[in-house]
Parts: sequence; C-alpha cells; structure tokens
Amino acid sequence: DPILPPDLSQCDPTGATTTSGGQTVSLDVDCCPPYTDIQSDYKLPSFTTPRVRPAANRGTLKPEYIAKYQLAIQRMRDLDVTDPDDPRGFTQQANIHCAYCNGPYDQPDHPGLDLQVHNSWLFFPFHRWYLYFFERILGSLIDDPTFAIPYWNWDNPRGMFMPEMFTFPGTPAYDANRDPSHIPTGTNPVVTLNVGSTVTDPVQIISNNLTQMYNEMIGTPASATDFMGQPYRDGDAPHGFSGGGTSEQGSHTAIHVWVGDPNNEYNEDMGNFYSAGRDPLFYCHHANVDRMWTLWKDIPADYSKEITDPDFLKSAFMFYDENKNLVRVTVADALDYKRMGYEYETSNTPWMNYRP
Ligand code: C2O
Repeated sequence: DPILPPDLSQCDPTGATTTSGGQTVSLDVDCCPPYTDIQSDYKLPSFTTPRVRPAANRGTLKPEYIAKYQLAIQRMRDLDVTDPDDPRGFTQQANIHCAYCNGPYDQPDHPGLDLQVHNSWLFFPFHRWYLYFFERILGSLIDDPTFAIPYWNWDNPRGMFMPEMFTFPGTPAYDANRDPSHIPTGTNPVVTLNVGSTVTDPVQIISNNLTQMYNEMIGTPASATDFMGQPYRDGDAPHGFSGGGTSEQGSHTAIHVWVGDPNNEYNEDMGNFYSAGRDPLFYCHHANVDRMWTLWKDIPADYSKEITDPDFLKSAFMFYDENKNLVRVTVADALDYKRMGYEYETSNTPWMNYRP
C-alpha cells in the first residue's frame, strides 16, 4: 500500500532525532506544524503564465529579480515574528523538513514507525511539493503570481560555487551557519559533487563533478528506481542511505555536506535534515535537484523512466498552501511539473557528453 500522509494531530513535538557517531540522539527542537482539523485534497490550480525559475549562478540574474527575492524572503521571515504559528513563516517552512525527516511523524496506523521522505522513491516528489508551496507562498507575500525561486546550477562549471546573492551578511537570503571556508571572498571555492572527495585542485574537482553528473544521470541507473530511489510502502521501515537514488546519494548529498558548517555539532544548517531548511540556499539547491529529475526524464535510455506502481502514485503528503489551508497532495500530481505551473530557464548541461 502507499505511504499515507501524516496525521498532524499525532506529530510528536519532542520526537526529532538525528544520528551522531552511529547513535540516535534527541534534538532539542519542536518542528511540528500548527494544527488544524480542516483539510482538503489539493487540486492543481489553472494558470496562464508559468513561473520560470532562473539560474542563480550564470551572471544573468537582474538586480530587480534579486531585490524581489530578498523582499519575499524578508516577508516570510517577518511572519516568524508577527505570528510564529503562521504556517507560511520561514521557520515553519524550515520545520517541514525536520518533521518529515527527523522522526516527529510516525506513519499513520504504525505507531513508532518513523515516516521518512528520504532514501526512497518519495525523495523527488516530496521535495517538488515542498518547493512548490514555498515558492507560491513567497509569490503571494509580494503579490506576484509569477514569482519563481532561483535554481543553483551546480551541474555547470559556471555555477559550481556558492551563488553570490545568498552571501551578504544582514540580507534575508544570508545564513550564518555555513562552512566558512566555502564562502566566496574574491576567489570562489569550487563545490564538490562527490561525497567525501578530498581532491583540492579546482580543475580536477570540476572534471570530477562532470563525471559524477554523467554517472548519476546517465551511466549508472539501469532502472527508474535506480535513479528515483527504492520502493517505500506503508509499514516499511525507513531505508538507510543506500535506499536513495543515484542523484539523491550523489550531487544532492554532496552539496548539503559542502554548504553545512562542519564546526557545528550536527553540521547545521545544510548538513542536517532538521536544520537544512533554515538556509535559504536549501531551496535554491533543491530547485536544481528537481531540475535534474526533469532532465533525466528526457534523456533517452533503454529502460522506462515511469514508475507506474500505485503504491508510488498514491503516496501522499500534507502541506499548508499560500492561503494557509492544509491540503493533501499526491505523488501522481507531482509527476508533470509543467502542469504545476513552473518551468526552468535553460542552462547548458556539459555533463551530458562527459562520458568517462
Ligand atoms: Cu530533504 Cu536535500 O534533503
């Protein structure tokens, strides 16, 4: 059976945990969302103009766009202060990731069994919905129905460093909890897309990154679940890291590790599920992860890219929309991003021809 959406009334405010040195430790954070018993099935709204997500790191962002983005994030942060229980607030948005990933939710009907949206085929659809509502909330806070979040084009050598618009202390997009050695200061430290790589030569890192991209997108997957992640159904215990698809385990995880601060106890912010959403870069990073799903779908392969298993298609999540309504969304409705009203500005993908 499909994974059921969490029951908000059962969210455990003391239930957030993380793994540290092989042990499960409690986190001192209540990341449960505000409660309501009014909920409905979400219907994708119609639209006339799609939101077009721009590349953050190509030098093409207009100052007006950056100003708009900063204003929208600021308004979201303001809600934390004016009404901490407003589900559209920045901290509430960050807590969504903690609630779905660090254990506060159990699977309905399976008390004690954590609901986990990573390390399985739920990874891409869950995060697509998460960004979808985050983006719509930002747009509604600045009254711009075409507002789109930027994507961090780390798959292209031109984008393989921290996007500048996120790096100015005192601005809404800034986050202090990042690896200090990866902040661009005159020179731009190059990201690594290889988890655990110790290579230091920037030219070699870039070449390894392109190889990694080719492998995780084209070379390695031999089935849809190799790329998307392993099946995860009602009553299943969360898979470990190896349940994730090639992209989730690869470039996706590498960026989290690269951005988070290794000097913090749990590598906050980006280096831990519970805190990752506190860094505005998270959503920019995940927009590119989502873009990878769209690109992979269109690359010809000798296996089918569709997962037709109803346990996958009928899995569901709960989110608050931009009108503070609690809605139930399905994986099936997340498969066609264009129907969801957004697109990606085109960027070059040199890794496609980077066959090792
Ligand atoms: Cu939900 Cu990048 O992790």
